[in-house]
Amino acid sequence: MWGERIERLRMRTVPIEEVELETEDTKTFIFRDNICLSARPGQYVMVWVPGIDEVPMSLSTINRRGASSVTVRRVGEATEALHMKKKGDIIGIRGPFGNGFELVKGRGLLVGGGIGVAALAPLAEQLITVGAEVSFVLGGRSKDLLIFLRRLEALLSGVGELVITTDDGSYGTQCFASTAAKEMMKEKCFDTVYTCGPELMMVDVFKEAEKYRIPVQASLERFIKCSVGLCGSCAIGEFRVCVDGPVFNSELLRAVVDELGKTRLDASGRRIKVEK
Ligand SMILES: Cc1cc2nc3c(=O)[nH]c(=O)nc-3n(C[C@H](O)[C@H](O)[C@H](O)COP(=O)(O)OP(=O)(O)OC[C@H]3O[C@@H](n4cnc5c(N)ncnc54)[C@H](O)[C@@H]3O)c2cc1C
Ligand code: FES
Repeated sequence: MWGERIERLRMRTVPIEEVELETEDTKTFIFRDNICLSARPGQYVMVWVPGIDEVPMSLSTINRRGASSVTVRRVGEATEALHMKKKGDIIGIRGPFGNGFELVKGRGLLVGGGIGVAALAPLAEQLITVGAEVSFVLGGRSKDLLIFLRRLEALLSGVGELVITTDDGSYGTQCFASTAAKEMMKEKCFDTVYTCGPELMMVDVFKEAEKYRIPVQASLERFIKCSVGLCGSCAIGEFRVCVDGPVFNSELLRAVVDELGKTRLDASGRRIKVEK
């Protein structure tokens, strides 16, 4: 038990087994790491890009024939350096960290926007395995930027529901993922809503679910440095996203509602506005 806890904290260097291009700005990096095989959907790893930085990334596959992956959107220095990596290059992995999603049987509504879909895809797979009913809203700015479209079509075909939304109407319904989710909550009874993506989308989904008293699990993003609850960089209200989250249930979301979608700390600890 302690051995595994300590091992989780230790940086393991692993070769990249495969790199898959998902969209013009997003790639999946597949690697093998024994400790990640027993991760829960929604947990994250700290990915070390040698010489550059260490950044938090959700596991986007867990134990697919012994391999795991992270799916990375290129936004800045570390993710750009990661995107330059090829099969065989070395990265470092610490974790998995955080609580992850709690699997609830019954009818689940999963609402993913942009790169947030990375954390929800393994959740959808495990929910189906435990016999839950899955309705998945997959949202993106345009068809070309939808993450895991084919993977989710294959997974949900015949066993679940996939609703696609794009901001520009190039595929699926032209609206935000949260707008489609709100319509679905009106029409059907769901036992749990799971969401990951832009914070303003998650706030919208959470507020609507509150009207119907549907329990929500939302994966939050804050600036993660230590990942073990020590530095305070990821604080939201009285909680730390790195260890109390990243998945917040309705009770915790209510406790941080004053900050949710409004403010967060930046890399230097300054309070800034949440932009999306
Ligand atoms: C729990 C969690 C899971 C995440 N999962 C994914 C994922 O699966 N795929 C993905 O592409 N991104 C994910 N992210 C976001 C990812 O960590 C940032 O995009 C990345 O760190 C940016 O680093 P950069 O050097 O490329 O960009 P920078 O130019 O340094 O920063 C760009 C923006 O990224 C954010 N960021 C930078 N460093 C961090 C950090 N250490 N912690 C949190 N946010 C940071 C900040 O908002 C910053 O404004 C996740 C974040 C968290 C907190
Ligand atoms: S990242 Fe240091 S306390 Fe959360």
